[in-house]
Amino acid sequence: MSYQHFGITGIERVKFAVEKFDDARRFAADWGLHAADITDGAAIFRSADGSEIEIVAADPSRADRWPVGAPSGICEIMWGVGEAANLQALAAELGRDRKAEIGADGVLRSVDDLGIGLAFRVKQRQAVAYDVSRYNAPGYPARIDQRAARYECARPHEISHIAIAVNDAGKSSKFYTERLGFKVSDRYAERGVFMRCREKGNHHDIFLMNGRDPGIRFNHLAFKVRDIHEVIAGGQYLDAKGWTTFAGPGRHIISSANFWYFVSPFGGSWEYAADEDMVTEAWQPQDFAAISHIFSEWTFGLEKSDGTLRGPISLSAARP
Ligand SMILES: [Fe+2]
Repeated sequence: MSYQHFGITGIERVKFAVEKFDDARRFAADWGLHAADITDGAAIFRSADGSEIEIVAADPSRADRWPVGAPSGICEIMWGVGEAANLQALAAELGRDRKAEIGADGVLRSVDDLGIGLAFRVKQRQAVAYDVSRYNAPGYPARIDQRAARYECARPHEISHIAIAVNDAGKSSKFYTERLGFKVSDRYAERGVFMRCREKGNHHDIFLMNGRDPGIRFNHLAFKVRDIHEVIAGGQYLDAKGWTTFAGPGRHIISSANFWYFVSPFGGSWEYAADEDMVTEAWQPQDFAAISHIFSEWTFGLEKSDGTLRGPISLSAARP
């Protein structure tokens, strides 16, 4: 197993090709992203730190506008790196068995083992300062003489992670761990593998999971918001706009995040996430294979992970 340090920093941009371009743009705007640009029929939406979504109308005659596995889905995942030398090192590594070229735009383009476009650029994401929520726990007051923040809707700070349904998560994860140096943060046997792109940081930047149906498909994309109240405000705003909840609100067991997922026009769902685990080299990965229900610690509107609360997707308990 080779491990190289390529200075990968996180997801910079996800490119989607969709059947319903206008619906996708409306969803991204309602989600709270900033409509940054429209060039050559491609719309760019940006979160606060500069992580981006690119949306194009799906076109089967163009390889760069045709999603993997479904009529709407992802074409390309672009990762950030610390400096230009990292791009050269990645081009050399990937060039051993596939095309990997740095274009005039300074972006290295290649493909992963799943057939999904893989790109790298020197990172443009930049954390934005804001007032962090403070909480008054008994005996530990942290917000004094100050009312709590209120939210009308969400303004996502950044892209957190992408989830892709595959046929064999254990096998597919090897490209990311062995070629790109990703770390496994947690796993669900060989059926779900949570990976991070660098030792210190987000619990996971990419999650590969065995899909219910064969094939490779976009599953969901998560955005970090400031706290649980912004998850709820964002979700209520989306709901009021007529979009459909996929799952939530709730709290994950793996990664500890508060979540709310919505069915999106992007071929999968989008997730608001707050308070995800942040990890270092001291993090101990766990295999959750022995636990049958790991999706949520608590949630509304669907069954609890232990199966005690029945809801709209209670049939999922019957799935392996
Ligand atoms: Fe997620």
